[in-house]
Amino acid sequence: MPVSSTNIWPRRVVFGAGALDNLAKELGRWAGGNALLITDQRMAASDGAARVKAAAKEAGLTLHVFDQVEENPSDKTVHLAAEAILDTGPAVLVGLGGGSPLDCAKAANIIVCNGGRIQDYDLTNPSKAKIGKALPWVSIPTTAGTGSEVCPVTVVTDSRRHVKFSISSPRLIAEVCIADPDLTVTMPPDLTAWTGADALTHAVEAYYSRVAFPVGSALALESIRLIGKYLPMAVRNGTDMEAREQMLMGSLLAGIAFAQNALGLAHAMAHQLTSEFGLQHGLANGIVLPLVMEFNARGAPQKLAAVAQALGAPTSGLGDAEVANKGIEAVQALLASIGIPSRIEGVTLTESVKERLVAQAMGDTLFGLNPVKATASEISELYNRVI
Ligand SMILES: [Fe+2]
Repeated sequence: MPVSSTNIWPRRVVFGAGALDNLAKELGRWAGGNALLITDQRMAASDGAARVKAAAKEAGLTLHVFDQVEENPSDKTVHLAAEAILDTGPAVLVGLGGGSPLDCAKAANIIVCNGGRIQDYDLTNPSKAKIGKALPWVSIPTTAGTGSEVCPVTVVTDSRRHVKFSISSPRLIAEVCIADPDLTVTMPPDLTAWTGADALTHAVEAYYSRVAFPVGSALALESIRLIGKYLPMAVRNGTDMEAREQMLMGSLLAGIAFAQNALGLAHAMAHQLTSEFGLQHGLANGIVLPLVMEFNARGAPQKLAAVAQALGAPTSGLGDAEVANKGIEAVQALLASIGIPSRIEGVTLTESVKERLVAQAMGDTLFGLNPVKATASEISELYNRVI
């Protein structure tokens, strides 16, 4: 095994039903200062936001609210959130919501503490600006999928180029993550399925990543096992608290896993489907994941075999390629059981759009981390199979 290293871990995670009751205590270390809650409009009106406000008050903080985060936050929204930070001078940020508010909190934090435009920090930029500091922030996820609550990555949509770009720095890790499954109960079945498919894609891609770190791989496999068992239950019955709790743990483990190991071609392709057709992030990942696994099985079948085993597929007496197929079939069956389609309906793919999708997928920072290198024509063929 070649020398490898990792320094990316969550700092403090408070996990479990009722974890949000600990927020006042956690916020106490910033008592006397201001705090800024970064969220979206729907969450701002939720019981969860009311509890955050009450906790801040109890902790002796003056809480301000920025609630203008949209799905797949744009550079413009990130800069508006940065202005809100500058206007309110918080000692701590609180991100509440799915991946979008949490990513927006991270990205705005970068601008405030390090200056410039958010594009300056794009991972694909060879002369990207350095992230030297950041304000402490508290992550409170309300979905089970993003992993943003524990990972060092934020994804921003460039409103001019219509592409998503990623930024990563250990300084973006939340000071405290409050992971309370009670907050995920109000997710409807479709959002539960889509965010769960995102978590599954994180775990699978982290597991077979070209730069996998063994500790991250171990977490990824456990995440796959939990998601395989509990995601259908959470979709079927949203008030099944065991399923909600185990899915939140699955998402958390996958988030820590991809923080160590990175992601791959499924995310590189899915980002473009979101930017081009407005597909929800997890849904886009769920649609492409089985095809990308099939593609990767050509070069790394033994890694897919472990996925099959984590999902409980029968594997004894089979060779690597057959077991890899079992893994792909198990993922297909899991995704089908929660209503993820195998194709995108209602859109047409022109040659020029397809060329753009392929070029942008190959320009995505995650493209190079896939275990098997894909050519433009291979990616084009994969897009043909989903649209
Ligand atoms: Fe994702």
